[in-house]
Amino acid sequence: MDSPFGLLAELTYRCPLACPYCSNPLNLAGYQDELTTEEWRRVLVEAGDLGVLQCHLSGGEPLLRRDLVELVAAAHDLGLYTNLITSALGLSRPRAEQLRAAGLDHVQISIQSDDPTVSDRIAGTPSFSRKIEAMGVVKELGWPLTVNVVLHRLNIDRVADVLELAEEVGADRVELANTQYYGWAWRNRDALLPSRAQLEAAEVVVRAARERLRDRMDVIYVLPDYYSRYPKPCMGGWASRQLTVTPNGDVLPCPAAQSLPLPRASVREDSLERIWAESPVMTAFRGTDWMPEPCRSCPRRELDFGGCRCQAFLLTGDAARTDPVCHLSPDHDLVARAVEAANTDSRADDLPLVPRPHRVRRPTRSRG
Ligand code: SF4
Ligand code: FES
Repeated sequence: MDSPFGLLAELTYRCPLACPYCSNPLNLAGYQDELTTEEWRRVLVEAGDLGVLQCHLSGGEPLLRRDLVELVAAAHDLGLYTNLITSALGLSRPRAEQLRAAGLDHVQISIQSDDPTVSDRIAGTPSFSRKIEAMGVVKELGWPLTVNVVLHRLNIDRVADVLELAEEVGADRVELANTQYYGWAWRNRDALLPSRAQLEAAEVVVRAARERLRDRMDVIYVLPDYYSRYPKPCMGGWASRQLTVTPNGDVLPCPAAQSLPLPRASVREDSLERIWAESPVMTAFRGTDWMPEPCRSCPRRELDFGGCRCQAFLLTGDAARTDPVCHLSPDHDLVARAVEAANTDSRADDLPLVPRPHRVRRPTRSRG
């Protein structure tokens, strides 16, 4: 068993945006009992002891935690590399200066499109201009800036303009992430899944941009796994290198695993070390012993680990099956049918999107 390398600290699921591709759980109301500042401090200490080197502060919107500066300082003092994953709503200059002084290392800001109207429509709230303003502050304060754009049927045709915008704001890295279908994205999958023609056009643009911007900006392109022959090596293997702590203290091998029927493990009831080593949520799919055929005898089993357990569960109802994205999976038809509909069903462009609800009410227990 390896030590975890990265901690995804999901500080809150409250968020001023309402993106229909959000990977947060559908039962947001179940996560209002947020960890207190002291509980998060303990999590950070235990994560450091466990070998974690990188701490990604995420949500929801982590800036809604009033103790964010304290938590960044705590992680920084422990020697962790800190990355803020944010919509940037709430990243005023004074707050940014406090975060800089606390030792925050890196900022990742999401936009929904390069076009203000499209961006605000997808975000469910006027936010584009505030994001651009915050990107300026991030650059002025000398942080490395990643611009993250989740790509889907409604914005992937604008990928050239998105890249231009990333250049204009001086991004050091742009992450073009095709939607992964968990949480609210799963609910909206049929409206979000792009067509093959859209993907092929986007890939031409991305390849050219990578070449052109080679010395100035990293262009990361997260492949759309529904269109791949083999699945992604999700999380680098179940409970292998990453762990997630949710706002209420549940510990998971990945952010989507709360949907799986596995026993809960919480930092409120046990140490991170014991949870990582022994809890059923971590051990259930660690390694390769759990694998069914065709993965069990497949030469790729140590490369992709049978794909994504959460995706297998969402598509088949059984997390222990081969990820249906794999063309060798007996369930591959489930993915093939969705892809076919995205390419042949003219109604796909007009399907209504269910927005993730805004949840900005502060819970009673936490100081955050
Ligand atoms: Fe990966 Fe399993 Fe498919 Fe082989 S059969 S490529 S191990 S998902
Ligand atoms: Fe949970 Fe892939 S998202 S294992």
